[in-house]
Amino acid sequence: MPPKFSIGMKGARLSRSAGRSGGRFITFEGVEGSGKTSQLSQSAERLRDLGWPVIETREPGGTSVAEQIRDVMLNRGNEQLTPLTEAFLVMAARAQHVEEVIRPALAAGIIVLCDRFADSTLAYQGYGRGLDIPSLRRLNRLATAGLEPDMTIVFDVPVTVGLQRRRAHREVNRLDMESVAFHERVRQGFLQLARQESHRVKIVNSGGSQAQVSNLVLELIEQVLQRPAPAHRRDQTGMRRSRVG
Ligand SMILES: Nc1ncnc2c1ncn2[C@@H]1O[C@H](COP(=O)(O)OP(=O)(O)OP(=O)(O)O)[C@@H](O)[C@H]1O
Ligand SMILES: [Mg+2]
Repeated sequence: MPPKFSIGMKGARLSRSAGRSGGRFITFEGVEGSGKTSQLSQSAERLRDLGWPVIETREPGGTSVAEQIRDVMLNRGNEQLTPLTEAFLVMAARAQHVEEVIRPALAAGIIVLCDRFADSTLAYQGYGRGLDIPSLRRLNRLATAGLEPDMTIVFDVPVTVGLQRRRAHREVNRLDMESVAFHERVRQGFLQLARQESHRVKIVNSGGSQAQVSNLVLELIEQVLQRPAPAHRRDQTGMRRSRVG
């Protein structure tokens, strides 16, 4: 079997000694079955091979409390969940995750790769369910205390392809039971977010092979690693900690 990643110039440029220190926050977004989880674990493996400290985490979830909230959200029995309840649940999980896992990891200089984050709320609860997007943005800012990813990679694939890929391998959850039209609104939402915030949100066509997609992802991650880590983030974490005591 060919290796998952070719080590050539890309490996040299991405090696830890060639990069800059400090934590980085990269989120993986996209519709169901678009390849987020597979690409995230491949990127983590590759970065670790090159000597970078990496954690892999996901939303909703990433902590014990937030994983319990995830179970409520994805449970097929919870058909009665309203869009607003769903939004508050995901925000509650996010607040816990940011405070307990993401900020401490970034302050310790670790690369945090996160499977879904705040943009999923805008795409699913906003574009998908029709909740007010400016209100969701305010809630996101509250839940994250202003933390934004250094880069967000949106894996883009036609929704029917994504759903087929998923259904072939995983048990169906509450969101999978939504209509194709719902998932199409979500997909268009992600594309719209990429247009609005093109400096942060990058689209990767995930219709190709996993190896092709992972090469594109590594090129994007390389861009983030070559930039200095935002200094204000480390200061902010210090302030938050000292306030808490
Ligand atoms: N480029 C690809 N080509 C073909 N199959 C793929 C590709 N990427 C991922 N897959 C397969 O599609 C399925 C879904 O991929 P994955 O779980 O990574 O997607 P996801 O975006 O995390 O999905 P979900 O939103 O359901 O969590 C997996 O079985 C995976 O092996
Ligand atoms: Mg996944």
